[in-house]
Amino acid sequence: MKLDTDSIRKSIREFEINSAESLEQFRLKYVSRKGKVAELFSKMGTLAAEERAAAGKVLNELKNEAQSRFDQAKIDLESNLSTERAASDDITLQAPARPVGSHHPLTLTLEEIKRVFYRLGFSIAEGPEIEDDFHNFTSLNFPPEHPARDMQDTFYIHKDEHQIDKDLLLRTHTSPVQIRKMLEQRPPIRSIMPGRVYRNESVTYKSYFLFHQVEALYVDKNVNFAELKETLVMLAEMVFNRKVEYRLRPSFFPFTEPSLEMDIWWEQPGKPGKWLEILGAGMVHPNVLKSVDIDPEVYSGFALGMGVERMASLRYGIDDIRIFYDNDVRFLEQFQ
Ligand code: PHE
Repeated sequence: MKLDTDSIRKSIREFEINSAESLEQFRLKYVSRKGKVAELFSKMGTLAAEERAAAGKVLNELKNEAQSRFDQAKIDLESNLSTERAASDDITLQAPARPVGSHHPLTLTLEEIKRVFYRLGFSIAEGPEIEDDFHNFTSLNFPPEHPARDMQDTFYIHKDEHQIDKDLLLRTHTSPVQIRKMLEQRPPIRSIMPGRVYRNESVTYKSYFLFHQVEALYVDKNVNFAELKETLVMLAEMVFNRKVEYRLRPSFFPFTEPSLEMDIWWEQPGKPGKWLEILGAGMVHPNVLKSVDIDPEVYSGFALGMGVERMASLRYGIDDIRIFYDNDVRFLEQFQ
C-alpha cells in the first residue's frame, strides 16, 4: 500500500489563505492533530515494515511544509492587517489637545529680575543652602552674639538629639554667596545670587519658613552710591513695567554702610495708596571686603537684596504668600 502524499502536498501549496478564517481552516485541515497529515501518520502502521522509514521521511517533510506555510501566512496576514489599518487612518484629523504646563509665578518674576541684571552685565553665582557661621554671619560683619543673628531666626543643624551645632545652619539670606564669590574671584565682580533661604518663622499669609532672594553685588574701583541708586530705579521700573515713585530710607545691615531700604508708592483701584518696602541695599562695608582679602582703600562696592515672593506678590496682586507653595493648579494655570 502507498500513502497518498502527493495530492496533499499539492493542496497544502495551493490552499488560498487570505483571511483569519481561511488561516484557521488551513490549520485545522493540515496542521492540527486531527488534520490530514496527522491522519497519514496514523496509517503508518498499515505499511509493510520496509516501507515505513521512507514514508516517515516523506510525512515529516509534509508536516514541516504545512507548518511553515502556516507560520508564513500568519505573518503576512498580520502585516497586511496593520498596513490596511494605517491606510484607513485619517491623518487630517485634529490631534487631541494636550494640557500645557506653565511657569511658576516665582520663576517668571525671577526671570524678569535676571533680565535686568543681564543687561547690566551681571553674571549668576550660586552657593550651598547649608552654610556655616563664617559665610552666613561672621564674614558679613555680624559680631559674635550680635542681636542681628537672632533677628534672622536661624535654623541651626543638630549634631545629635541634644546638641545644636551653632556652626552649621540653613542660610538665612543669599549674602553668603557674595563672600564665596569674592573669595573665588578678584574684582571687578558683577554678579547676582538668586536662591532659596530659610528662617524659623511661623507660617502665615505674609511669612513662611523658606523663601527666595536675589542679591546683587558689584565690586570694582570707584563704585559709588549714584550707581547703586541708578541700578535700583532701573530694576524697579523694569520689574513693575512702569515709572515708579520711590523713596530711599536709611536702614541698617551689618554688611553695608550706609544702608538703605527702598519703598515704592503703591496704588490699587479703590484703595488708598501706600509706601511698600521692596528691597534692602547699601555700600559694601569695609570689614566685609577685608574678610575676603580685598583692600577697601582700593575697591568699593554696592550690594542689594530682595525677596522674590515679595516682588511676585506685588506684580500679580497676591495677598497670601502660602499660595506660592500649595501647587494648586487652579492658581498656577493663571500664569500661562
Ligand atoms: N541680606 C539682606 C537680608 O536678607 C538683604 C540685603 C542684601 C541687604 C544686600 C543689603 C544688601 O535681609
